[in-house]
Amino acid sequence: MTLRAEQGSVMGGYRTFDPHSHDAYRHVLGRVPTSVAIVTSMHADEPVGVSVGSFSSVSMDPPLVGFFIAKSSTTWPFIEPTGGFCVSVLSSAQQGLSRLFATRGADKFAGCTWRASEAGRPIIDGSVAWMECAIESISPAGDHQLVLGRVESMGAVDDADPLTFLGGRYGRIGALADHSPSESWD
Ligand SMILES: Cc1cc2nc3c(=O)[nH]c(=O)nc-3n(C[C@H](O)[C@H](O)[C@H](O)COP(=O)(O)O)c2cc1C
Repeated sequence: MTLRAEQGSVMGGYRTFDPHSHDAYRHVLGRVPTSVAIVTSMHADEPVGVSVGSFSSVSMDPPLVGFFIAKSSTTWPFIEPTGGFCVSVLSSAQQGLSRLFATRGADKFAGCTWRASEAGRPIIDGSVAWMECAIESISPAGDHQLVLGRVESMGAVDDADPLTFLGGRYGRIGALADHSPSESWD
């Protein structure tokens, strides 16, 4: 890959890049694998949702999760006023849904089936885990906003095979080490 913004120097085996270059930012952050989740709610009796790769666990006590949503999102302004959201973490069989829910103006819910959470928000069928949340806070974060949600109910399948996204490509987790108690953390 040729990046004009590459600074040309090599530090300890790493090529270095200008963090203000969008190409370089995508290239370096493309080394970080993510999950893909669909954030949903209901607007005027219609389901709304958007794909995010930035979903993360945040806090156990209280139970908080979070994600970053672009200020340019046309879906988030319909979700925010509902005071909450539901997150469905996609399985490796659902890359089509990842693309669909990242397509502005698409008939997103024509491509999937879902069931309603306690608060009536869509839980995407076939997802590996879901969490229904009340919005805890929304903070500015550059061209995005950091949304924290307080988890009010949640569910998961026993055998999770989550979708992964790395360097612009979809995949799945190929091999996991045996669980080692010494690798858990507080
Ligand atoms: C794998 C993947 C991960 C994404 N992660 C995010 C994200 O974390 N935050 C975000 O705002 N958009 C993310 N997007 C882009 C949005 O899904 C896309 O821009 C969507 O069309 C938002 O537009 P809309 O809300 O106007 O429909 C991601 C897209 C894909 C395919």
